[in-house]
Amino acid sequence: MMLFLDTGNIKEIKEAASWGVLDGVTSNPSLVAKEGRSFKDLLKEICTIVDGPISAEVVSVEAEAMIKEGKDLASVHKNIVVKCPLTPEGLKATKALTSEGIRVNVTLCFSPTQALLAAKAGAWCVSPFVGRLDDISEHGMGLIQDIVTIYRNYRFKTKVLVASVRHPQHVIEAAKLGGDICTMPVAVFKLLVQHPLTDIGLKKFLSDWEKQHLPKG
Ligand code: E4P
Repeated sequence: MMLFLDTGNIKEIKEAASWGVLDGVTSNPSLVAKEGRSFKDLLKEICTIVDGPISAEVVSVEAEAMIKEGKDLASVHKNIVVKCPLTPEGLKATKALTSEGIRVNVTLCFSPTQALLAAKAGAWCVSPFVGRLDDISEHGMGLIQDIVTIYRNYRFKTKVLVASVRHPQHVIEAAKLGGDICTMPVAVFKLLVQHPLTDIGLKKFLSDWEKQHLPKG
């Protein structure tokens, strides 16, 4: 499973990338707006830090405008994946951009039927938002299970990008269900490595080692 960071923050991306296990980056207009800088400059900088798929979302709502915007974003770097919303206009734009060889991440997916349409439009990946479903007392990971089953049944190549991840348990469940990609905030990414027994074990190893190697006399 590929691990992506869901952020527009360069400091967070640099820190996660330094671990050597970061495969890509996603963002959305809300996350990018927080950074208060030119979107294209931000994307260019992200592409110098992470050599993997970098999703960049369009803000137009009509297909023609989405296609124009998507082509412009894709021209920034070969690793850019254009993000289009899961609407009829977004599907039209997905089909058009895909037919020109531009990879599309169809975002804001909340149902299996939406995911089926994204795959039929040729999306490179679909982004089901598990956390936002959990927030309204629906079962986010149930949606992942449904999409994985449907895509396997028909051998769709569209990847399942598990988004709106809130905690490491979402990452574990996504991996168990066969999600292709999981994108998460840096706070969740950092929790993936933590375990108190690792810290206790390391402390003990180091203190035992020091006791044995103290200068004699
Ligand atoms: C995905 O690409 C979205 O940016 C993201 O995962 C949304 O997550 P949120 O529900 O925490 O805003």
